[in-house]
Amino acid sequence: MDNILLLGKYGQLGWELHRSLASLGDIVAIDYPEINLLELDSLVGLIRQLRPKIIVNATAYTAVDQAELEPEIAEAINSLAPGILAELAKENQSVFIHFSTDYVFDGFKGSPYVESDIPNPLGVYGSSKLGGEKAIQDMDPAYLIFRTSWVYSLRRDSFVSKVLSWARAQTDLRIVDDQISNPTWCRTLAGATALLLAKSGKNPTGWFNDRRGLYHLAGDGFASRLDWAKMILEFDPQQEQQVVASIEAAKTSDYPTPAERPLFSALNCDKFTDTFSIRLPKWQDALKLAMASE
Ligand SMILES: NC(=O)c1ccc[n+]([C@@H]2O[C@H](COP(=O)([O-])OP(=O)(O)OC[C@H]3O[C@@H](n4cnc5c(N)ncnc54)[C@H](OP(=O)(O)O)[C@@H]3O)[C@@H](O)[C@H]2O)c1
Repeated sequence: MDNILLLGKYGQLGWELHRSLASLGDIVAIDYPEINLLELDSLVGLIRQLRPKIIVNATAYTAVDQAELEPEIAEAINSLAPGILAELAKENQSVFIHFSTDYVFDGFKGSPYVESDIPNPLGVYGSSKLGGEKAIQDMDPAYLIFRTSWVYSLRRDSFVSKVLSWARAQTDLRIVDDQISNPTWCRTLAGATALLLAKSGKNPTGWFNDRRGLYHLAGDGFASRLDWAKMILEFDPQQEQQVVASIEAAKTSDYPTPAERPLFSALNCDKFTDTFSIRLPKWQDALKLAMASE
């Protein structure tokens, strides 16, 4: 069995990856504060000692607004650390799986982004994640970078959990209808990652090396935050707890935030499907299942 190192096991995605990858090999799963991507010495030592066949990095600095206030920290975690991990993966001939974001784009294209579109991040978070992509690509181990979008779980604070709590506290909701992307249930993302590792067979490094690169991987289809919120309320298994009576469209410009967000950042995932014959479920189907099961 292959040994797998999973970084970020307590995050939305990391928690699901821990469940999904456990049956595929001997897994060592860690997170902050056992490891701190701002102090890499102990992590480097651990990787050299474990010599994992597969490294999956689900850690990230994901506080989009806070990143504007502490760009050095965002860059250290999202740009520098992935580069070091990629270097270690190359040194050890490990597979390196990493996740990036739709926020590398400016949102002005007007149709779903493909991998060859030129990124132009609007804020520190997106630019730090883009830095991580470039650092990995420069190092060029047997890597897969999955750019994903609007990741949610019901375990941690996410748009879904926020909408549910607003609907229990407020009678009138206003949700933006001009931010559009692919809602992605973290369990589907983790499931697809596990499926790939299962497909890769006895020589994962060779298999991934032949397919290495950047892929868009997100829930199938796209929606505005308003569409998404309406669907969350519809699938809420405890609708009787809702006090909300109306839900209206608002504009992003009504709610200024420290970080500017791309408006239309939907991702086209055809390259991933063409390469691996896997497509994530339609975002509405995944949401329905997430809300019934979490
Ligand atoms: N969430 C989204 O909407 C979204 C959208 C597009 C792409 N993505 C990407 O998808 C991936 C997974 O996102 P997610 O939503 O699962 O993120 P998340 O829930 O914020 O999890 C990130 C994990 O990284 C850990 N971490 C943060 N700083 C660290 C440090 N200095 N050292 C070690 N660990 C540290 C966090 O620990 P603490 O909780 O203790 O800080 C957390 O466990 C990321 O690459 C993210 O950029 C996310």
